Amino acid sequence: MNVIQGVAELRDALRGQDRIAFVPTMGSLHAGHLALMHKARAHGAPVVASIFVNPLQFGANEDFDRYPRTLQDDIAALRAQNVVDILFAPTVPEMYPEPQGFRVQPPDGLGNILEGEVRPGFFGGVATVVLKLLSCVQPRVAVFGKKDYQQWLVVRAMCRQFALPTEIVACETTREPDGLAMSSRNRYLDAGERAEAPRLYRELAALRERIHAGARDFPSLEAQAANALAAAGWQPEYVAIRRQADLARPGDEDAPLVALAAARLGTTRLIDNVEI
Ligand code: PAF
Repeated sequence: MNVIQGVAELRDALRGQDRIAFVPTMGSLHAGHLALMHKARAHGAPVVASIFVNPLQFGANEDFDRYPRTLQDDIAALRAQNVVDILFAPTVPEMYPEPQGFRVQPPDGLGNILEGEVRPGFFGGVATVVLKLLSCVQPRVAVFGKKDYQQWLVVRAMCRQFALPTEIVACETTREPDGLAMSSRNRYLDAGERAEAPRLYRELAALRERIHAGARDFPSLEAQAANALAAAGWQPEYVAIRRQADLARPGDEDAPLVALAAARLGTTRLIDNVEI
C-alpha cells in the first residue's frame, strides 16, 4: 500500500486508471471501515481509501479537536488487511490551500432535516469535501456506509444532480456482537456507557418489529422510543420513521421505511438506523 499526502502525487499514481474504487474516511478505522474497503475491492481496482478529518463538516461546538486521529495504527491495519492499494492522507493545508469559498449547498429537504437540522452546515461540509475528494481520485465507484444513512443519500443525490461519473455503492452497517453500530466515536464511551450504548439499536429494532406487526401511528412510535432512551439516561435528539428514498415523512401506505435516531449518551453523540 502506497501512502500519499499530495494531490499532484495522487494524480500521478492514478493516471490511466479507469476502474478505481474509492472509500473516503476520517480514519480511526474499525471493522466497519474495513467492510467498506472489501466491498470496494469487489467493485473495482485499484482500491483507494482516504483518511482526512474534514474541518468543514464540524460545527464550532463539535468534536473536531478531539476527533480520534490514529494514522499510524490505521496504516498498520490497512497493511495487515492488504485490501487498499493507495491511501490518500492529505493534511488540511493540502486539501484547503486557500479558504474554501466555493461550497456545495445541499438542497432543502434532504439537506436540512434530521442530521442537517441538528448539525447545521454538516452536509454542506461533507458534500464539499466529498466532491473535492472525488475530483482528486476520479473513481468509477465510491463506497459509503449505511450507518450514515442520510449522508449516503445526500452524496448519492449530489453525484446524480452534478452528473458525476462515480457510482455510489452502499454498504450495510457493521455491528458489534451486542448490536452497537461500529463508529469511531464509540471510543469516547466509558465502560458504563459502552454497556448501555446498544440500547439505541435495540429501540430501533423494536420499532421495526412494531411496524412489521402492523403499527402505523408513527409519531407515537417515535415518541415511545425517544422516551425509552430518555428514561435510560440518554438525551435523544431525534427518533424518526421516514421513507427510505428521500427521508420524507411517510404516509400510511408508504414503504420501504427507515427508522433513524440520534442521541447523546454522556458527552458522546451516537447515531444509528434500521431499514424496515
Ligand atoms: O463518513 C465520513 O467519515 C465522512 O463524513 C466522509 C464521508 C469521509 C467525509 O468527510
